[in-house]
Amino acid sequence: MKSFYITTAIDYVNGSPHLGHAYEKVLTDVIARFRRQMGDKVHFLTGVDEHGQKVQASAKKKGIPPQQFCDEVSQEFRALLPKLNITNDDFIRTTEARHKAVVRAVLQQLFDKGEIYKAEYRGFYSTRQEQFLQEKDRLPDGSWPEIFGEVTEIVESNYFFKLKQYQAWLVEFYEKNPDFIFPAFRQKQVVEFLKEPLNDLCISRPRERLEWGIPLPFDEGYVTYVWFDALLNYYSAVADRPEIWREARHVIGKDILVPPHAVYWPIMLHAAGLPLPRGIIAHGWWLQRGAKMSKSTGNALNPLDLVAEFGADAFRYFLIREMNVGQDSDFTREQFLVRYNSELANNLGNLVNRTLNMTTRFAAGTLPAADATVEDDLEKNLRALWAKTRDEIVPLCEGYQFHTALERTMVFLTETNAYIEKRAPWKLGKSAELRDQVLLRTALATMAEALRLAVAALQHVTPAAAEKINAVLGYAPGNDWRGELEWGTRLNGRKVEAALVLFPRPAPPEKAPAPAKS
Ligand code: MSP
Repeated sequence: MKSFYITTAIDYVNGSPHLGHAYEKVLTDVIARFRRQMGDKVHFLTGVDEHGQKVQASAKKKGIPPQQFCDEVSQEFRALLPKLNITNDDFIRTTEARHKAVVRAVLQQLFDKGEIYKAEYRGFYSTRQEQFLQEKDRLPDGSWPEIFGEVTEIVESNYFFKLKQYQAWLVEFYEKNPDFIFPAFRQKQVVEFLKEPLNDLCISRPRERLEWGIPLPFDEGYVTYVWFDALLNYYSAVADRPEIWREARHVIGKDILVPPHAVYWPIMLHAAGLPLPRGIIAHGWWLQRGAKMSKSTGNALNPLDLVAEFGADAFRYFLIREMNVGQDSDFTREQFLVRYNSELANNLGNLVNRTLNMTTRFAAGTLPAADATVEDDLEKNLRALWAKTRDEIVPLCEGYQFHTALERTMVFLTETNAYIEKRAPWKLGKSAELRDQVLLRTALATMAEALRLAVAALQHVTPAAAEKINAVLGYAPGNDWRGELEWGTRLNGRKVEAALVLFPRPAPPEKAPAPAKS
């Protein structure tokens, strides 16, 4: 079995999880489930980033010790996962002993090798971004961009990691591995970034300024820069399992690609003599009215509200259907409802109802076998459409084009419903002719088989619905997913349930009360 190690970014615990965080977990889970279906041995890691200025400041604001603050907020992030049906194998917190030990060991090793040196730094520092700024970061009018928050001038001694000396190596690495970053246009941006000279990376913060971090093993008067600490989570979680580490892929948002994941991380690993990950998948942002959804702008949606209202499957479906991985997407409730109603409730939900209902009415609840001798173009075309759909969706999913794979599956469902309209089993049910009876059985078998296949194509996105539908069809799919995608006779003779409510119509939004008259 091929190993496949997949990770999400680890979230800062300075606020509650929002829709952006949830999306990354869902996307990574869809990839993990898909790879398992393809037969890989998947290891899926997610977790939280607990050190640094932001977390220290948030704890202080709440008037509690940082560890207690982290314990509370991390619990919220962890609790979100089962609610979204996420199948992670591990959850890492950067305050855990297993992580701290690896960070300190790597730092010590780099220090011993002469990759880290001490120097005096004078310059500007952004507390919000926890980063030293350069003159080129200024706006044309000399001020600092909004994203840096308050910027102060400081003079202090710090430890630096020799990033600069690896620039040529990294440039060559990207030349040799043109598909390292998905989507490809992001790798081009990295290559552009590397045309400017790199600076060495300041990897320490003096304790007087920042307490909340991992002490440097070679100088306890300093803690480790939060990004140097955080990036190592991917490795520390599997440090004792090199066969897993070698197959790593990171799913992250576009905002943390350059420089942390695309520049610091490969150089850190290379300098430490460790293998590099297989690749990076950089997704885009969920926006609201064009602005990035985030804690600081206050426009963030709570994923739990949507899950409570529509269920985890509908939530997952929408995020994956709507977002072309790598691009940005605007979240609106209207669009959510359009997809929910037309694709889940109507297209899928109706096919389920019709299949159960007609099998109960016309075949006493037992799925009959199709008879090829009565089939005509209606059945043949539907099968041909499935063969085409199946041949398309596997490579689409392999290339992270899940939204297009879902679109193709929806087309197949639409065509299956159209087939039912044309075949009109309810008319055949009224006929006493033998041929019509055979055709009726064929129609029931055809629609049920089409439903089973569509469900197999959807199961990594809507796992709970897939399980429920298979259960009411009296069917338990086997482990060979590709085999499950073959049109066949697996449902013949299965006893079906009479009904299943999958995607109930949401209650109409409550009308806002009329403004009080003055
Ligand atoms: N702690 C760092 C990551 C360290 S990884 C070694 C961090 N945390 S974060 O909480 O700010 O963001 C976590 C992830 O959520 C990032 O990949 C980020 O891109 C993603 N998202 C945060 N807001 C988002 C949207 N509005 N939309 C989609 N994803 C976004 O960065």
